[in-house]
Parts: sequence; structure tokens; C-alpha cells
Amino acid sequence: MTVPHQQADAEAGYLHAGARHGSSPNEVDARGSTGAGARDATKAEPALVVTQLTKRFGERIAFSQVSFKVDYGEVFGFLGPNGAGKTTIVRTLGTLIEPTSGSATVAGIPLSPENGVAIRQRISIMPESPGLYLRLTVTENLEYFAGLYGLHHPDARIKEALHAVHLGDRADDLCGGLSKGLRQRVGLARTLLSDPAIMFLDEPTSGLDPVAALEVHNLLIALRERGVTIFLTTHRLEEAEKLCDRVAILNTTLRTVGRPTDLRAQLFAKGLVVKTLAPLGDPAALFATVPSVDSWTSEVPGSYELSVSDVTQAAPELTRCLVAAGADVLSISELQHSLEDVYLELIDEDVEAAAR
Ligand SMILES: Nc1ncnc2c1ncn2[C@@H]1O[C@H](COP(=O)(O)OP(=O)(O)O)[C@@H](O)[C@H]1O
Ligand SMILES: [Mg+2]
Repeated sequence: MTVPHQQADAEAGYLHAGARHGSSPNEVDARGSTGAGARDATKAEPALVVTQLTKRFGERIAFSQVSFKVDYGEVFGFLGPNGAGKTTIVRTLGTLIEPTSGSATVAGIPLSPENGVAIRQRISIMPESPGLYLRLTVTENLEYFAGLYGLHHPDARIKEALHAVHLGDRADDLCGGLSKGLRQRVGLARTLLSDPAIMFLDEPTSGLDPVAALEVHNLLIALRERGVTIFLTTHRLEEAEKLCDRVAILNTTLRTVGRPTDLRAQLFAKGLVVKTLAPLGDPAALFATVPSVDSWTSEVPGSYELSVSDVTQAAPELTRCLVAAGADVLSISELQHSLEDVYLELIDEDVEAAAR
């Protein structure tokens, strides 16, 4: 097969493996020439340290003053609407483009043009479109990329990567004949070839139907269980909630970082939901007798949302009061805010529209 030449990324003077060839992709990830990978990474240090990082394209700010850390073994989600700067962050940390200001350490190496090759030897990037040669088979594609990455014993790695994404039986199929979901899996296999210290996945389920997206989710869950460090961008809330240990919510600037459960607790008052068979006669009088209830609302007869200072204290107190008042209680449950509530609270504008 023909192996395209490497070409330079003129913008930053950074080298990356680019290729244009027949039905070839026009976006190929950045890799070095050897597969040093995760095995030599110093695990005591964080996998990523990003400090006040900013990228501007002329007048347009892609992201501004972004700071966060990611530990090895974490699945870290970057969540934000279209135009929030997610892809640009991946491209910047992946050494494809240079930041305008700020600093970062990627897999223990300071982000700088001189360190581009060393960083690319330790990471892998799956761009939004997996960038495969459609006229080559799955194995031929992986052989090509293994060659590009300078892997010494590619056959075993290719087999292992295909096995990890459950594509062993499609090894000889042409990529052009695969569904979008299967191509996405080949893209994931490609990012696994060199045993990277950090995998950057840019919207890995974008454009996939729910079944194909679920398969990719399951693969990512399996990788997470193996301790792979994953930096994932997504605009899907349920994806971030399901897959990520921590999420950062980005809308040009970083709005918040934390575990989904902590974010919910941080942003919203605690609450209880009481449902009764018949509406309460005098809910105001009843709830006033429970000290831990701060306030309450009712939009549907027989259903009450209560703000409480301490759920563990309020729930038993409330139960006793309701029973004493002769209420027919159907349920008392904790009010659960979803990550969507957090997200909507923090993402209050359409950046892409604002930028234009
Ligand atoms: N190469 C570029 N030149 C100019 N503007 C760009 C370039 N790449 C991205 N942008 C702009 O930066 C902003 C963030 O884009 P992007 O990182 O692609 O967002 P996301 O991936 O979150 O949808 C957008 O306003 C986009 O138009
Ligand atoms: Mg993007």
C-alpha cells in the first residue's frame, strides 16, 4: 500500500502526520514516530495540568483563561455547546496548534513547540471524523497508522486493539463498507495502537444512532476499567454523566469542574418531593410545623417540593408530621437535579451565535 508523506503544520511549526491520498481523510491525528506510550509515564504527576490557557484566532476567542488538572486513570469530560472551544482545546493540548497564552503540561511534558514530538509519542487523538482510508481494509488502515507511529511489532498491537473494540471479525473488511458506528470503532482501535498515556476523544459518538453510541459508551467504560486516561469532549449531557469521573463545563471560559454529583449538590438547594393520594388540607400549616423545611411549592395538587436544610433530618420529621395529620402519603423522595439542570444553569447563551 502507499504510505503518504508526513507534512508540517505551518501554523504552529508543529509536526503532525497529515495525509491526502485518494479517499483519504483530511484530518489525521498528531503522533510521534515511536510508541513510548503509557508504560513509561510517571503516574504520581497529573496527566494534564492546564493553567490560564487561551487561544484566539485573530479577534475571535476560542477559549479563554482555562485552568484544570486531570489525573491518570480519570475519564475527564469537557462539556459545552457548539462553538464552546472543545475541539480547539483538544487541538491545542494535542500540539496541533499553539496556544495564544497560558501554559500546560501534557503527560508530564510542558506544552511547547520543541516538545511536540515527545508529547505526541505519549498521547493519541480521535478527531470528530475518524479519518480512515475507505479503500483500505480495517487491518490495512491500522497497519498504516502503526507504521506512522513507528510501532516495532504492529501485528500483536493491531490484534489487541481490534479485540478491544470487538472488531476482530471485521479485520479484512474495507473501511468504506463499514457503518459509521463501526468506523468510529476502528478510529478508537487506532487511538489504542500505541498504548497512549492519554487518549483525547473529540465527540466520539457524534452522529451515531443510539445503538452505535451505546456500543462506543460500553467500549469507553471497558477502557476506563482498564485505567486508561481519557479526555473526552461532548455536547451530550447523558454521555458526560454516564462516562465521566469529572466534567468541566466550558462556554469559552470554564464555568465549573467537578464530579456530576458534586456539581448538582453545589448548585442546587437540597429538596424533598412529597406525594399524597389527596391534596393536603392546609399544607402551609403542616409544613410550618417541620423545622427543617425552609420553603415549599406545589404545582400539581397532591405533589409538594420542599427545600430543606438537611435531608436526613427532614425526611423522618416530615413523615411523622404527615402521618400525624392523617395524610395518605404515596411517597417521600429526594429531589434529584440532573446534570442537565446544572448545565442549563451555567450555559446561558449560545456562544456560537454570539461570536458571529
Ligand atoms: N481555525 C480556526 N480559525 C478561526 N476560528 C476558529 C478556528 N477553529 C475554531 N474557531 C472558532 O473557535 C470557536 C470554538 O470552536 P471549536 O473549538 O470548534 O468549538 P466546539 O468544538 O466546542 O464546537 C468557534 O467560534 C470557532 O468558529
Ligand atoms: Mg468540536
